[in-house]
Amino acid sequence: MNAKTMIAESLAFPSADNSQPFRFRIVSDSEFEIFHDSARARHRLNHGNLASHLALGTLLESLRLVAANAGLGLKTKVTIPATTTTSGGEEPLERWARVEIAATGASASDADRELARALPLRVTDRRAYSRDPLSQADVRRLHQEASTQPALTFAFRDTLGRDAENLMLEIEEEQWKDLRAAADVFAWIRFNETKALETRDGMTWPSLALPRIQKPLLLLFQRVFPLYAFLVRFGATKGHRAMLKRQLRGTGGFGWIAVADADPETLVDAGRAYFRIWVYLCSRGHGFQPLSFATLPAFMKWRLSLPADWSAKLLSAYERLLPVLRAEAGFGPEVYPLWGFRTGHAPPFPAAARTLRKPVEELLIP
Ligand SMILES: Cc1cc2nc3c(=O)[nH]c(=O)nc-3n(C[C@H](O)[C@H](O)[C@H](O)COP(=O)(O)O)c2cc1C
Repeated sequence: MNAKTMIAESLAFPSADNSQPFRFRIVSDSEFEIFHDSARARHRLNHGNLASHLALGTLLESLRLVAANAGLGLKTKVTIPATTTTSGGEEPLERWARVEIAATGASASDADRELARALPLRVTDRRAYSRDPLSQADVRRLHQEASTQPALTFAFRDTLGRDAENLMLEIEEEQWKDLRAAADVFAWIRFNETKALETRDGMTWPSLALPRIQKPLLLLFQRVFPLYAFLVRFGATKGHRAMLKRQLRGTGGFGWIAVADADPETLVDAGRAYFRIWVYLCSRGHGFQPLSFATLPAFMKWRLSLPADWSAKLLSAYERLLPVLRAEAGFGPEVYPLWGFRTGHAPPFPAAARTLRKPVEELLIP
C-alpha cells in the first residue's frame, strides 16, 4: 500500500463540523507529510487549534489502523509548532506531522483489526438513543481503549448528575448567543444534497437530526445572519437548550476524558484514544456524539486562555464546570476534563445522514 492509497483509505476521520482541515504532501511512496490548513480550521470554537489537535489524533489513528490492517507499521512524528497553541496558527499551511510507512513483519492485534474493519461504520449520531446502560463487557473495552494512551484519564458513567446537566444546558444556551461561534457553525451546514455533493465537506442537514420544521429558519439564519443576531435577544437559543436536553436524556452512558497538560502531543494522543472508543461504540450498534461545547472552550480557559471578548456569563459557567465535571467523572485535581461524549444503543444510522469527504486528489499539495 503506497502513501496515497493509505491517505485515501483514512479520510473518513472526523473533524469539527467536518471542516477537513488537513492537507497532504507525498514525499515518496512510503512517506508523506500532513499540513494544517488554518483557513479551513478558522472557527471561534477552535481557539488555540484545540479541536484541530484532537482531529489530528483521529486522523493519525485512522492511518495507523489502516496500516496495521495491511500488515504495515507507521513511524509518525508530530511537528506542531509550539506557537500555534496560543496564537491559533499564523501560517496558512503548517506542517503538523510526518509519516513514514514501514513493513513491520508483525500481524495486527485483534483489536486493531476489528477497529480497522469498523472504520466505515463510525459516524456522529445526534438522535436520542436507548437509555439502557451499556454491557459491562463494552464498558471494560472502552477502558481498555482509553488505556492505549497513558496520558489519558477516562471515566464512564451510565447517567449524568443533575448539576452537570444543568450547567451543560446553561453553557449550550449561552454559547449559541456568541454570534461569531454561531456564524461559524452555520457556515458548515449543507442544507441540500447539491451543496453537500459540491463541497463534500460540512454537516449534511439530515446529520443534524433536527425537526424538519426548523430547516427553513436555519437556512434563513445562514443567509441572513443579522436575523439570528436579532432573534437571539428574544430567546432563540432556548431551542438549542431544549435539543441538548432531549439528547442528554436520550442517552445510555457518558464518557469523559481528562489530561494533565495542554501540550499538542498530549491532545493528539487524547484524540487517538477517543477515536478508538468512537469507532468501537459505532461498531457495536451504539450512537456516539461528541459533547464539546461544555468542555473544549472550558479546557482552554483552565489550561491556556480564551479571548477576552467571551461573555462574562460563559467564563463564569466554565469556571463552575471544573469542580462539577471532576466530581461527575471522579477525576482528581491533577487532571483537567478535556472532552466528553454521549452514547447508547441506537437504531441503524440513516445513509442520508452521512457526511461526505473530499477526494484525496483535492487534498494533495505539490
Ligand atoms: C474535535 C471535534 C469536535 C466535535 N464536536 C462536536 C460537537 O460538539 N457536537 C456534535 O454534534 N458533533 C461534534 N463533532 C462531530 C463532527 O461534527 C463530525 O465528526 C463531522 O461533522 C463529520 O461527521 P461524522 O463524524 O459523521 O463522519 C466533533 C468532531 C470533532 C473531531
